[in-house]
Amino acid sequence: MFFKIKSFGLTGLNAFPVTAEIETSKDLPDFQIIGLADAAVRECRERMKSAFRSSKLSFPEERVIVNLAPADVKKTGTVHDLSIAMAIAMTQGWIRGCDTERSAFIGEVSLGGEVRGVRGVLPMTILAREQGITDIYVPEENAAEASVVDGVNVYGVNCLRQMIEHFSIGGRLTVQPKYTPADEELKHTADFCDIKGQELAKRALEVAASGGHNALLIGPPGSGKSMLAKALPSILPRMTFEEAIAATNVYSVAGEIDPKHPLVSERPFRSPHHTVSTAGLSGGGSVPRPGEISLAHNGVLFLDELPEFSRNALEILRQPLEDGKVTISRAAGSVTYPSSFMLVAAMNPCPCGYYGHPTRKCTCNRKKVETYLSKISGPMLDRIDINVEAASVEFEDLSSGRKAEPSEAIRERVQAARDIQNRRYEGTPVTCNAKLTPDMMSEVCVMTDSAKTALRRVFEAYGMSARAYDKVLKVARTIADLDRSDVIDTKHIIEATGYRTLDKKYWSQ
Ligand SMILES: Nc1ncnc2c1ncn2[C@@H]1O[C@H](COP(=O)(O)OP(=O)(O)OP(=O)(O)O)[C@@H](O)[C@H]1O
Ligand SMILES: [Mg+2]
Repeated sequence: MFFKIKSFGLTGLNAFPVTAEIETSKDLPDFQIIGLADAAVRECRERMKSAFRSSKLSFPEERVIVNLAPADVKKTGTVHDLSIAMAIAMTQGWIRGCDTERSAFIGEVSLGGEVRGVRGVLPMTILAREQGITDIYVPEENAAEASVVDGVNVYGVNCLRQMIEHFSIGGRLTVQPKYTPADEELKHTADFCDIKGQELAKRALEVAASGGHNALLIGPPGSGKSMLAKALPSILPRMTFEEAIAATNVYSVAGEIDPKHPLVSERPFRSPHHTVSTAGLSGGGSVPRPGEISLAHNGVLFLDELPEFSRNALEILRQPLEDGKVTISRAAGSVTYPSSFMLVAAMNPCPCGYYGHPTRKCTCNRKKVETYLSKISGPMLDRIDINVEAASVEFEDLSSGRKAEPSEAIRERVQAARDIQNRRYEGTPVTCNAKLTPDMMSEVCVMTDSAKTALRRVFEAYGMSARAYDKVLKVARTIADLDRSDVIDTKHIIEATGYRTLDKKYWSQ
């Protein structure tokens, strides 16, 4: 007897179709799995026998061969268990009324017959729909995640016996209701209204959030840098549905989906500690999982105490900051994960924290300051669009009971500026001003004559690099969008260059 059951595998973020082909013959009892399977897949033989026994289902007393096709693609993990179990059940004649051409099965089966969650259900379900699958059977804990995809019936399965009875007796499984994110009011722990003073830094973060620009906050201890960064999620623009799906895909593959909120609909905000390993940051493992920089895709990667991160960790950020993706190479092949994030970093200007302070004396010698600052390399600094000083807060600001502008008001301006960009870049791969490509710059960043003159003056005075020039223009574009202006004017250029010139104060003596 010969049967075929559809399933899916995963390399990196990409799903691929797999078919479990099963053949039984009246021979001595045997059970083989072939088709470039790794150890976890081969161990499936033991899991199956035990799962069938625990579920009080008879295991075929004949020779059984399962081939996972295509045989030239490596299959990893336990995701094919459910399709293999289904194929075995087919040979026993238990399955009725299953359109195997239009159904797919993914999930791990435990020794006890329970169906356990797997990683990557979302990209697999998206591919299933594209391939004309109408019914997909997934572990119950992944059902909410799969239900984000339109146009395919999702069934959550909690044990092997339940699935088999569904096809032999009927009515054991129901279609998972579609997940639609509730329009919940976003609750953020930190709000800009509680941060006193720091008007410059707040404005800089507003500009950064509006255009998706990288930002560095620099200043003495206790001035509110960490506080400002932690309040950033409260002013970030909403994600488009495409951005949300792309972010959710990464969480799905990392196995970090919250079943209560299966769609990552708020921009991710990741703040790894400075002791994070390079693998934790960029992704790793023998079957590489996404790291912090990919989990921050379409959101924010916040690095507090930037100079404390290892040089290796900071160097790893260079490729993703430029290309929006990261490639992890392993003996078995390499995978690429998306990692297009907005980098926000905070740091003191020196080990004691008071270098350049207007009133407090810095206790570090010149060498110490230089060594500290040199931990941030030139190419790294060059990739940061907005540098801003978070100076010490004045007593008047702290002691006045006045609340500052609430995050919601700032967020409205940010959203309006992002809406302008979404309309402008519709149909292009660009998502925000920070991601503008060189070929689009001249068309999009039109300056008035006086703005051009102002930019030339700063360019010459500061000996800017070509990259710095592009960055200033992009930031100026965002400031003009906040101002609802089609062309970039002098005041937009002046503000944008202000965010590029601070590094000269600290880094170029
Ligand atoms: N601008 C501010 N408005 C209100 N409170 C503030 C402000 N700045 C600092 N604080 C208070 O000081 C505490 C420490 O601030 P925060 O941790 O953000 O400082 P920091 O600049 O990150 O310092 P460090 O350089 O030591 O990391 C905050 O939790 C808050 O209570
Ligand atoms: Mg801090």
